[in-house]
Amino acid sequence: MQQELLQESKRYALKRLKEEADHIKEKGFSAVLHYRKEHTHTVVGLSKKIADKIGADPLVCEIGAWFHDLGKCYNPRLSPEENHLRRRNHGFYGAEEAKEFLKGKNADPDFIQEVYIGIKEHVGLTRKEKEPLSPLTAAVIWDADKVSKIGWSAWIHFLAYTCNREREEQDLLDLLKRDGLETMEKIFQNLNTEVAKKLAKKRLDNYRENLYHMEGVLRGEI
Ligand SMILES: [Fe+2]
Ligand SMILES: [Fe+2]
Repeated sequence: MQQELLQESKRYALKRLKEEADHIKEKGFSAVLHYRKEHTHTVVGLSKKIADKIGADPLVCEIGAWFHDLGKCYNPRLSPEENHLRRRNHGFYGAEEAKEFLKGKNADPDFIQEVYIGIKEHVGLTRKEKEPLSPLTAAVIWDADKVSKIGWSAWIHFLAYTCNREREEQDLLDLLKRDGLETMEKIFQNLNTEVAKKLAKKRLDNYRENLYHMEGVLRGEI
């Protein structure tokens, strides 16, 4: 039953992610590398890993990860205004979409509520509160989403995201440093769990180390 629900959630999320890719293409951007889908796969993987290490409910975390950014995915059945609204408050709308879907599958109400909180609370790069997010599953979904934004794979995702939406020319070194390293360092300060901090530190150290090499390569000095 749990496996079935997980597979159905995955299928639904991939269908919605495809709708976003189609929309990107319709707008005239490249969806050769579809950021949102790539990012979601990474968040799902990290959610499973972190949940497993700290003993959080793996099904809540994995299904929450599949749905967490669907609020940002264009829905062709809604008006442009409604889609705009969804993007501006994607945590809430993603949580609502998950609730609707899971209700339709007759999932347990407490389970639905926990998935709902995890998705609704994942938004932002930093948190004002000092205490870790609760429940534990919400802390896992937050951490998985943030760790996915740290390291070289994150930077490649970020580049894809930029190509999916920017029309203006971008400076590559600027993207690597300001939008890359500075943002990653900020995100690193806002993780909930020790497991995520460890994973993020490894990624960040590797990024820093190779950034200087990359800078030399791009300038033709190496
Ligand atoms: Fe998000
Ligand atoms: Fe995300």
